[in-house]
Amino acid sequence: MGRSTKNEIRLARLFPGLTFLHRKKKQSDMQSAISEADLKIPVHLGVIMDGNGRWAQERHLPRSAGHRAGAENLKELCRNCGYYGVRYLTVYAFSTENWSRPDDEVHALMELFVEFFERYDPELEKEGIRVRFSGDIENLPADIQAVCARAEKNSIHRKRMDLIIAMNYGGRREIMQACRAISKEVAEGRLLPENITETTITEHMYIPDVPDPDLIIRPSGEQRLSNFLVWEGAYAEFWVSDILWPDFGFKELTDAFAAFSSRDRRFGGLSKSK
Ligand code: IPE
Ligand code: IPE
Ligand code: MG
Repeated sequence: MGRSTKNEIRLARLFPGLTFLHRKKKQSDMQSAISEADLKIPVHLGVIMDGNGRWAQERHLPRSAGHRAGAENLKELCRNCGYYGVRYLTVYAFSTENWSRPDDEVHALMELFVEFFERYDPELEKEGIRVRFSGDIENLPADIQAVCARAEKNSIHRKRMDLIIAMNYGGRREIMQACRAISKEVAEGRLLPENITETTITEHMYIPDVPDPDLIIRPSGEQRLSNFLVWEGAYAEFWVSDILWPDFGFKELTDAFAAFSSRDRRFGGLSKSK
């Protein structure tokens, strides 16, 4: 029995009402000739959820409507990643630079964040998804911090996938905060400067137990990191798409995995086939 058939049986048992419409769509639409059994699935996938504003603009809707559609699509992404067996999914939800947007947009984003857990936590629970946060959480408003703490606490026992929400996240800020913590250990005589290694820095990142991302996806046509996983993404494969985030579905995810499957990850060495 193929992996996908097994997965479907398992999912159908878990969610009796679930239909596999996306599967039918996938077989006809998939760009790549690669079969599902040959797909390599990244252990850790990063997604820059970009393009909500343009999605709304195309429909003559306010930007907040795009963010709402984006939040709904995050729930779909979780389901699709669960289907494929992704172990860690990090999504970029709000950057340290996004505070520069108009107050009403920032406010709408924060409200949507709270609503996301109110609406979708039961589904995340059913899918065995643990929620974690990465970012400068301590500098978020107190009510948002409370939502983060509750979501983490409620889901700590879930084992199937870790959903890591990069919230008030900036790769540079993460490195800066690690530098501060390491400097403190040096100043207090607990660490010698010559003993600082790359591992020391990794250990001071926001979520040190999570392996580096294997693949980072950016929809919306932009081809930049925008301060996402600057340290951790040093050797991540990158895949971009013109599709705007709210429209990024199962087909696009499968295409990204198909491209990832054919990449030759050399990590500075030589190809295994050479
Ligand atoms: C991503 O969509 C959401 C956040 C940055 C919070 P955008 O709001 O950046 O959408 P575009 O790039 O303007 O289309
Ligand atoms: C990156 O998107 C941040 C998130 C998706 C949360 P931005 O829209 O903020 O990035 P830039 O401004 O296009 O680089
Ligand atoms: Mg954007």
